[in-house]
Amino acid sequence: MTKTTGTSATSGLKLTISAKPAAPVKADLLVLPLGTRDIRKEGVEALKGLGLDESALTDFKGNAGDLCLLYRKASGKGGSRVALLGLGEGKSNGDYRKAFETLSKKAGDLHCGVVVVDCSGVGDWAKHVKRSPEYLAGVIVEGVVSGSYRFDRLKSGKLDKEKKKEADLPKSVVELVLAGCGDHANEVEKGANAGLIIGTCQNLSRDLVNLPGNYLSAEELADAAREAGKRGGFDVTVFNREKITELAMGGLLAVNKGSQDPPTFTIMDYRPEGKVKKTVALVGKGVTFDSGGISIKPSAGMDEMKSDMAGASVVIAILEAISKLKLPIRLIGLVPATDNMPSGSAQKPGDIITTMSGITVEVGNTDAEGRLILADALTYARREYDPDVIIDLATLTGACIVALGMKVAGMFSNDDDLAEELYLAGEASGEKVWRLPLWDEYAEQIKSDVADVSNTGSKGAGTITAAKFLENFVEGHKHWVHLDIAGPAFAAKGGGPISGGTGFGVRLLAELLRSWC
Ligand code: BES
Ligand code: MN
Ligand code: ZN
Repeated sequence: MTKTTGTSATSGLKLTISAKPAAPVKADLLVLPLGTRDIRKEGVEALKGLGLDESALTDFKGNAGDLCLLYRKASGKGGSRVALLGLGEGKSNGDYRKAFETLSKKAGDLHCGVVVVDCSGVGDWAKHVKRSPEYLAGVIVEGVVSGSYRFDRLKSGKLDKEKKKEADLPKSVVELVLAGCGDHANEVEKGANAGLIIGTCQNLSRDLVNLPGNYLSAEELADAAREAGKRGGFDVTVFNREKITELAMGGLLAVNKGSQDPPTFTIMDYRPEGKVKKTVALVGKGVTFDSGGISIKPSAGMDEMKSDMAGASVVIAILEAISKLKLPIRLIGLVPATDNMPSGSAQKPGDIITTMSGITVEVGNTDAEGRLILADALTYARREYDPDVIIDLATLTGACIVALGMKVAGMFSNDDDLAEELYLAGEASGEKVWRLPLWDEYAEQIKSDVADVSNTGSKGAGTITAAKFLENFVEGHKHWVHLDIAGPAFAAKGGGPISGGTGFGVRLLAELLRSWC
């Protein structure tokens, strides 16, 4: 296999934390964060200190993500560029995340490699969000790493005649200096390092989603898991078609029937040193491209179905993040992977298949493939590991986009406390989830006359009937969550600051798992 595009969660970002005040020395950009609260008082003082006039504050309101660029006469001390960065009210993590993401993106556009941020307010900021400076530093660095994300590895640059001269300049922040941390420096350093790990792994998830079908087959997705395992120090085992057949994973095999490429089933296993607080199994849908199969999708937007392995990408990325953070949680990642293609050998609507669990499924629609491969993975998780918690992530239904839109994931759980914890993790991480019901009324819709269950529901509530389908395969496990990330996993072009893979789920799960430690 020729690897032209290795994926790696190694960020180029260097972090420097300093107790001493911020100075423009060597900075390509000096950043003064200002909240809306006392923008005048603090702003005027900060500007004065840099020999700048307060008139710069005329139009700057300090809303989260507002940026005002100023230029001072560069003395021998270097650094002429100064940015006022709005923190908004500064009461929620989201304000800081948004501010630093915007800042980072702008710094990249301006080719500012070294960015120095005046963090003398970090103690106050932390108080306002009711978190520790350590936590907030993590949020800030996650924002910077997220804002520096670019997916340009498949651009040769051959057609950019004009831009030649810029080719050697940095395209994103290379060094981030958090200065003026004073007594909080140690805490900030800890949090910043964690933020760097989580942000970098989120960018790995985005990379995997952005790689199109011809660059990411099931085997290549498994390779990405192996690489993550090497970086994070966890075990990775990949089952090939033979082993998958031996295990009788009938769902995965059925979806793979139309494919030119073999399926894979990847197992990632992170075992911490010392006492384990919980064993958690994560299952991610790994459909590397979803054409719909014989029940083929309309062509408009079908290209976006390269993102149908977003759940898998989150599972791979979070394993790397948690192993690098060395959390005392045993984490098992399971990724069933294949593309879903039409061909003479593809499964047909009406086919009846037998899943690994023994449960038979009438395939009413070959485009409802995600639940077929997840069924086997859930059975495997339950039988092989009997984990304390099972969480699956999948771009499962278009109906979820109809219900909740592009920013929020649908959540299902048979455990109210767990659902509440995930809800709170969503609020804190900015990756929000909203719970939908698992009422038995909906099971009626997926009854089959000829098999145990159908993979397609009658009209309405497509997200819920998909979840009801999956519920059959957790075999009574009491702490299961299903996250339908069809909406937030992928941002269409022009839909916001970043387009393409979002890495939605990485911060959410990091927040949840860290709250258990
Ligand atoms: N991968 C799709 C769901 C999807 C749609 C994700 C749009 C992201 C954006 C899934 O495999 C699918 O095709 N689901 C069908 C199910 C239906 C046939 C019961 C759907 O949602 O239409
Ligand atoms: Mn489909
Ligand atoms: Zn799909």
